[in-house]
Amino acid sequence: MATSRDIRNLTLIGFMGSGKSAVGRLAAAQLGFDFLDTDERIESAAGMSIPEIFQREGEAGFREWERRIVRSLAGLSRTVIATGGGLPTYDDHLERLKEHSLVVCLWASPETLYQRVRHHDHRPLLQTADPLARIRELLARREPWYRQADVLIQTEQRSVREVAAQVVHAFRLHAPSKV
Ligand code: S3P
Repeated sequence: MATSRDIRNLTLIGFMGSGKSAVGRLAAAQLGFDFLDTDERIESAAGMSIPEIFQREGEAGFREWERRIVRSLAGLSRTVIATGGGLPTYDDHLERLKEHSLVVCLWASPETLYQRVRHHDHRPLLQTADPLARIRELLARREPWYRQADVLIQTEQRSVREVAAQVVHAFRLHAPSKV
């Protein structure tokens, strides 16, 4: 696939609990951009919650929804896109996102991610006896993709506001003509 880039959007990638949605909403407000969350898009297109999709169609069915969503993003501009944690690690998704977006990865250690997600039960992949072990294993598998982001931002010990400010700064630096 051609890798020519026309950076019109800002896409956040990173593991579950890295803060993509919260940071994304704030960054969008600061840039005057729209905000789109791929999980929310999938839920409204499917008419089901993410756990229901996993239950009825399996993880493979959910990834199929993600594949369709990724293709539908190509026409967007001036949008901050928060992706599901696994989305950039499948097929050519990362390459496709980079065609129209600056891709920023939010990073945190497995222990911090676990602290952030442990009281939530809407993530099917973490409904296991040992979620921390699952996070370690999945993060290790996904790290090679996350590291291919244009910008990697450490979120450890930092507020949503601080991280959003850094995300906005990175976008202004890389795409000054778009803001
Ligand atoms: C997933 C992350 C979730 C959601 C689904 C699968 C993953 O999104 O897409 O439960 O594979 O990491 P968040 O990263 O927003 O929690």
